[in-house]
Amino acid sequence: MTQAKAKSAPGAKDAISILTEDHKKVKKMFMDFKKLMNSEDKKEVEKSLLVKRICEELTVHMQIEEEIFYRAVRAAIDDDDLMDEADVEHAGARDLIAQLDEMEPGDDHYDAKVTVLGENVDHHVKEEQDEMFPKAKKAKLDLTALGAQMLERRHELQAGGGASAGKKNARAA
Ligand SMILES: [Fe+2]
Ligand SMILES: [Fe+2]
Repeated sequence: MTQAKAKSAPGAKDAISILTEDHKKVKKMFMDFKKLMNSEDKKEVEKSLLVKRICEELTVHMQIEEEIFYRAVRAAIDDDDLMDEADVEHAGARDLIAQLDEMEPGDDHYDAKVTVLGENVDHHVKEEQDEMFPKAKKAKLDLTALGAQMLERRHELQAGGGASAGKKNARAA
């Protein structure tokens, strides 16, 4: 791999490792939710906090993928069907996130919505990791430069610069 260019700092992470780490983190959070669901007590406060974190993580993850990674990959690989499918799956996830944003644990279908969101994300992640990422690697994209751009954008978004990931993300300025 000889794609490092002037822009990438030493030790910089490549785009695929960043996204794969996010996937693991989110998967673990969905597993934690399942544990809360199976607990004897209702665990409503814990559920509510966890689901907010899941939705924020996913929202930022999808946004940096779309703005930076997907855009570059779509241009570099000849597979619009694969990329279109990923877009539609993101839209489906956003729809459930928007519904959950209006809900509280204990509401009708709350647990089911979180569960289905987790199942959909699982399916989507599998397609990214098994199909999209190998194609991106083959296409010889500058994954280190893309990784740096994604981290920068993530910091912006987490500082309140545009992810509609919930009200508690107050603008920092
Ligand atoms: Fe994605
Ligand atoms: Fe992803």
